[in-house]
Amino acid sequence: MSVSVVIGTQWGDEGKGKIVDLLSEESDIVARYQGGANAGHTICWDDKKMVLHLVPSGIFRKDVTCVIGNGVVIDPVAIMKEINAIRDMGYDIEGRMLISQNAHLIMPYHKKVEEAREKNRKGNAIGTTGRGIGPSYVDKFNRTGIRVIDLLDRDVLSQKLKKAVEEKNAILSGVYGAPELDAQSIIEEYVEFDALIKPYVKDTTQYLCQAIKDGKRVMAEGAQGSLLDIDFGTYPFVTSSHPTVGGCCTGLGVPPTAINRVIGIVKAYCTRVGNGPFPTELNDEIGERLQSVGHEFGATTGRPRRCGWLDLVALGYTSAINGLTELSITKLDVLSGLDEIKVCTAYRLDGVETTQFPSDLHSLERVEPVYETLPGWKEDIVGIDQFDDLPATAKTYVQFIADHVQVGISMVSTGPKRSQTITSNTNLLHAVH
Ligand code: GDP
Ligand code: IMO
Ligand code: MG
Repeated sequence: MSVSVVIGTQWGDEGKGKIVDLLSEESDIVARYQGGANAGHTICWDDKKMVLHLVPSGIFRKDVTCVIGNGVVIDPVAIMKEINAIRDMGYDIEGRMLISQNAHLIMPYHKKVEEAREKNRKGNAIGTTGRGIGPSYVDKFNRTGIRVIDLLDRDVLSQKLKKAVEEKNAILSGVYGAPELDAQSIIEEYVEFDALIKPYVKDTTQYLCQAIKDGKRVMAEGAQGSLLDIDFGTYPFVTSSHPTVGGCCTGLGVPPTAINRVIGIVKAYCTRVGNGPFPTELNDEIGERLQSVGHEFGATTGRPRRCGWLDLVALGYTSAINGLTELSITKLDVLSGLDEIKVCTAYRLDGVETTQFPSDLHSLERVEPVYETLPGWKEDIVGIDQFDDLPATAKTYVQFIADHVQVGISMVSTGPKRSQTITSNTNLLHAVH
């Protein structure tokens, strides 16, 4: 039994793509379990770079089979575009790219409804990626969604699309005063996907269960981050799926007892795209510095990411709800050059100090971070791949995180490329229990 789950521990963009690509060298299967093309997972290898939105980050390893599970919401246009781009780069994906027949689809009306809802929320907009994620999951849970399997039968698809467009038009014009969509042109565009998608469609749940039985090494790739989880995140400023560990079971059909590694990816500082509370946000020159040195612009929408200090209250919370077995720290190199580095170790709420992450938005918006200040380092550490070669204060910073969260650190990333990673000498990085 060997399923490893890679999970974002913050608000997304922690560097999951880089770590999944790196670890997929030792995997047989890499599977996405939730979210959709709202994700942007960046992979850099040799002199190449690719941002993946739907295709799992193991695709550039020729022996790895990639699975898009039932829990993902798939935009047929986006997935075919991505598959073609990967092929154009010279990668053969035939027979090693599987798409769950039960995954739900994202249609043009989902994006239109999302756009109208966001506009309607005015100052309270969530700041979504505009990829139709929320409305597609709404249809799924409303039991009116259209699934990948429906793409394979033109009659069924036409009927379902006609009904869906009628309903969405009533919402668009009636509720939001937005223009209606033409059902016929959507039907004509999407019936064409049958032949394109057919080679990839599979009962991926059966496939994965068998693979696990056969002793294959499976890596489940989370999208977004735990603080964007629909239940455990900063609701309503969240996404509409479960990036947390349970999402792996329901989004793939993998039993929890098969999971033996839960790897939390944590950026050495914090970022957030879109709206919602962010206790350690820095609206000053240090925040600007993190944004420019870390190139903190969304891989999907290009929006600037809000930046701030590492929040160990939030990390303690996401570590607990996911049962992390290890942590992987990314972008440590971005902190080089700072005189001192602050780390949030508690919140002050209404004058009382707490290490609990509040579950209600009203409290979270009011907390003041309590910081410990650690010494920074001046050296450029880009590309360092041995823990011993880090400056002493950088080692102290890493050890501080492990000790505070009580989770061992198995990897430290010092640059976007595969080789720019510390994966050895982990004895030094075990948390002191
Ligand atoms: P994901 O959504 O979690 O996969 O992360 P993104 O790809 O959206 O954002 C992470 C960004 O940081 C990408 O541009 C990566 O190439 C880059 N990156 C990943 N790890 C490191 C690192 O250790 N150092 C630096 N400087 N960049 C990194
Ligand atoms: P990866 O996988 C960062 C954010 C959006 C918005 C909220 C809801 O690259 O880490 P949605 O379109 O999902 O309904 O938007 O979630 N968001 C992400 N932020 N990284 C992501 O994915 C994100 N996917 C969604 O900015 O605040
Ligand atoms: Mg991203």
